[in-house]
Amino acid sequence: MPGQTSAGVDYDKGSSNQSAANKAAVHWLQEAAAASKAISPGVINILDLGSATGKNSAGELKAFVEAVRQSEGDVGQDIIITHVDTSGNDWNQLCRTVMSSPISYLAGSERVYSHAQARSFFEQVAPAGSVALAYSGISFHWMSQSQPLSDCWVQHPDTKDRKTYAANQQQAARDWLQLLQMRAQELLPGGYLVATAATLEDSESFNHLVAMVYQAWREAAKQGAITEQEFKSFAGGHWLRSREEWLAPLHKELKDEFEVLELQEGSTTDPHWVEYSKAGTCDGDEGPRALAEGYAKFMFGVLAGQECESLVAGQWLRTREEWLAPLQGELKDHFELLEFHESSVTDAHWKIFQESTGNDADKAHALAEGYSKFFFGITPGLVNAHLTQRAQAEKDRILEVMKAEYIGLVSAHPTELRLPFALIVLRRK
Ligand SMILES: C[S@@+](CC[C@H](N)C(=O)[O-])C[C@H]1O[C@@H](n2cnc3c(N)ncnc32)[C@H](O)[C@@H]1O
Repeated sequence: MPGQTSAGVDYDKGSSNQSAANKAAVHWLQEAAAASKAISPGVINILDLGSATGKNSAGELKAFVEAVRQSEGDVGQDIIITHVDTSGNDWNQLCRTVMSSPISYLAGSERVYSHAQARSFFEQVAPAGSVALAYSGISFHWMSQSQPLSDCWVQHPDTKDRKTYAANQQQAARDWLQLLQMRAQELLPGGYLVATAATLEDSESFNHLVAMVYQAWREAAKQGAITEQEFKSFAGGHWLRSREEWLAPLHKELKDEFEVLELQEGSTTDPHWVEYSKAGTCDGDEGPRALAEGYAKFMFGVLAGQECESLVAGQWLRTREEWLAPLQGELKDHFELLEFHESSVTDAHWKIFQESTGNDADKAHALAEGYSKFFFGITPGLVNAHLTQRAQAEKDRILEVMKAEYIGLVSAHPTELRLPFALIVLRRK
């Protein structure tokens, strides 16, 4: 599926532009906090759509939680924050950030709970009329499906591939309408949608950047560092909407559903560019190299892919007494014990082994294979550690190819990496 962020480590390292854009939303989140308290019958339900690793949203949503808690007459309403992203998202990193980062909304908060849901934001992700705030940081420009242009990375109006461009433009219009219709279902009357999303900028540096990124990725695919499929899903998956495109369904199909509170356009400047400009080092290749490395991290963060990681958690095989201890002690007034039954199951491969006739060596081999599947299934830590290492090796290789290409391109034409974005704030009528 197009639109998955890969390895969280890279996204976190390379997402300062997204973070800068999201800061524009903070005062609206604070305003939404007051409204959320008033309109939520009990629990305040919040969505974080396109959460990725949570590094950026966990901080922004902290501002929301603090505003709820600091507002007048706070009675400590429960808050549930549901992070929504695609199945290939780095959910492990999201959990680590939300649970243990000091920037997270969970740090120092009470009665705040987090959920995660692997689902597309083009679907309804919460019960009708249950959500006080739908937040999204730099995600709504991802499309549900698209065709890659033959000559460009983003869906650029200057493309010569007019037919594909027109088809994608129609898809993007359907996507935005669909996404808003789903939010109209979920939001409570008076609920807010606060979103930042990447947009198009008609400037020389932006156009050059787009061309450069395309070339670096094209090269990575040519050298086999990424597959053609990955290249295509990367190259085609975004639509950078114009102001008119953002507003179209809000002035037409959904004009009775939403009130537009703000549609502001802006852009961020990448910190690597600031460093590079300050250092004034156009001589030698150290400046361009640092710039290219920074850019490579940003661009790598949006490569479709998947990485998983898990800990080999310790296990404790309890005795009957240990299972029952708290039920007969501290919790005896909380639970009624309906059954406690101990038993064991026999692996199907063992039965087959015993019942089958034939060559002993073949039988033993089949048994071992069957068992190994079972052990493989219960040792996710080991399996995933292996996958993680492989993914790491591949990532390093991709970065090397891209870096080499970027260094050439950036040295020839040092360019500012900007993220043009729109801030969209709507209130459900
Ligand atoms: C650039 S990241 C933004 C992450 C984060 N919110 C931030 O502000 O930095 C975009 C995220 O949107 C997710 N995404 C793309 N299409 C999606 C969809 N249809 N449903 C849910 N998430 C989607 C991607 O997987 C990715 O994690």
